[in-house]
Amino acid sequence: MKEIKIESSLYVFESLDELPKEVSILMNKAVEAREKAYAPYSNFYVGAALLLDNDEIITGSNQENASYPSGLCAERTAIYYAHSQFPEAKIVRMAITAGSKKNQTASPIPPCGACRQAIAEYEVKQALPIEIYFMGEIGNIAKSNSLANLLPFIFDKSVL
Ligand code: THU
Repeated sequence: MKEIKIESSLYVFESLDELPKEVSILMNKAVEAREKAYAPYSNFYVGAALLLDNDEIITGSNQENASYPSGLCAERTAIYYAHSQFPEAKIVRMAITAGSKKNQTASPIPPCGACRQAIAEYEVKQALPIEIYFMGEIGNIAKSNSLANLLPFIFDKSVL
């Protein structure tokens, strides 16, 4: 028997001011998207913005439904739309922000497991790491250099 260890690492920025300019612009697009979220059931508002290698920025927000499981997270709304519109483009980076009507979120809020799996599909397809920045409404911003870093023991097409 042997043990396999996988390490993940995050980089933490103290505020938007500490981010490279083009990343703070992308995060601000995510904030605008978050403000358009449709989240009447959870009151949890999420926005995502993607930068593609053709310089397009695609945004999405969570879309809820009275039939709860029919709703969709912001990250998947954005990434499915991006790949529908620009199937040949590669995703360079993704910015995510999440906030609650109940209390202000002040720490980085990572993408859920289902979104990580969805993002993984495109990271594997494009063979280029997707930078992922995530935050609450205020406070620190976390950066992962890739989706794979957030999802060890990935399930992808290589196992099919
Ligand atoms: N949500 C997202 O949009 N992204 C995530 O990664 C986690 C959760 C949404 C789904 C639902 O509308 C609300 O946040 C509460 O779970």
